[in-house]
Amino acid sequence: MSQQQAISLAFSLASSSSSSSAASSDTSCPSSPTSIMSAPVDEDAYFSTQPPPASLPAQIEASTVFIQRHAAAGRRVVLITSGGTTVPLEKQTVRFIDNFSAGTRGATSAEYFLEAGYAVIFLHREFSLVPYARHFSHSTTGSFLDFLEEDGRGNVRSKDTRMGDVLRRYTTARTEGTLLTISFVTITDYLHSLRAISRLMAPLGPRGLLYLAAAVSDFFVPESRMAEHKIQSTDVAMPADEEEFDNFDNAPRVARSKRLVIDLDPVPKFLKNLVDGWAPEGMITSYKLETDPSLLVHKARHSLGRYQHHLVIGNLLATRKWEVCFVSPGREDQWLRVGKKDGSAWTEAQVKALQAGRVPKEEPSGEVESLIIPAVRDLHDEHIKTSQARSHCQ
Ligand code: PMT
Repeated sequence: MSQQQAISLAFSLASSSSSSSAASSDTSCPSSPTSIMSAPVDEDAYFSTQPPPASLPAQIEASTVFIQRHAAAGRRVVLITSGGTTVPLEKQTVRFIDNFSAGTRGATSAEYFLEAGYAVIFLHREFSLVPYARHFSHSTTGSFLDFLEEDGRGNVRSKDTRMGDVLRRYTTARTEGTLLTISFVTITDYLHSLRAISRLMAPLGPRGLLYLAAAVSDFFVPESRMAEHKIQSTDVAMPADEEEFDNFDNAPRVARSKRLVIDLDPVPKFLKNLVDGWAPEGMITSYKLETDPSLLVHKARHSLGRYQHHLVIGNLLATRKWEVCFVSPGREDQWLRVGKKDGSAWTEAQVKALQAGRVPKEEPSGEVESLIIPAVRDLHDEHIKTSQARSHCQ
């Protein structure tokens, strides 16, 4: 069966009974689930052949201590994934393929989760945006130094009115030890870390929350096929007797540029393993990114049907800072939209334009994550209640 056929088959199986779901807001004793939409993929085949990051043991140690401490304090723990994963083309990596994400969604969400009382494990792409510092880093027009001034005697103070408040919130998270940051670079680093940390969260039961906002590569070069050294773009470095030159015109000999054809394997979809095995009682929220508005809700539903988790948050690339759509089992789709900076209400035509993926002229009045995180927290409350009712029935 070709890969294309395999993908189509998985799709038609998943869409044939999209009404079933793993979670429900009904707290009466439920019947056991009758259908599994997609079997977990064989983990060993991937994880035994793709080497883990060198820092994995340290990540596990830090996460274990963090989770145990906050579980003992009765605090909820959320694992947030953020930023894009890379796909290296060489073992000694010079070239790689990247996935779009600045890490804004993840870093911003982390601050709101901390405000909502969660302890946060922030698994993010190295050098992408991080909570608190995000307000002053990564500027395309200046530097964080622009936020500071010096009084001529070596004393430095902030020129920005937000800095005091951000610094206070950052210091609180540091002092209370409620934020643990862990980084990844490649898709393989990400998957090893995601598996290890979500397994550590399993003892939290339904009080654990996974919030998957990272932009995860769908294709990769397996370790066994990866070049050791930098892939050469010409033959000029070849031994003299093997050199090939374009010298058809007898001009000074010019090294021939080579084409690069990349053969990528599909990255296994581990979301089902996460739902069924790695953190089976936790609430699992994933994001769905699309650029075509006509696909967004459909693909979000498909993801929910396929993986049987608890919430998919759909967002369009162009309008993701204005609105998102919550798709969850047994509930109507819910659009969350920030207001306009000028305070006026969105007109029907403006809402239609937003949902068609057109960037509005109006600046958002605030961060859409200020709406997303309280809504996720409400669903997490229900998830905990439902799980408690289920265990009471057993
Ligand atoms: O950081 P910003 O610039 O603010 O951008 C934020 C964002 C747009 C990247 C974010 O809001 C978002 O939508 N993230 C998810 C993007 C994405 O990778 O979607 P996907 O369709 O590839 O994956 C959907 C889900 O399946 C993800 O939760 C992912 O963890 C999971 N997945 C994906 C690929 C794969 N091989 N296995 C998976 O399990």
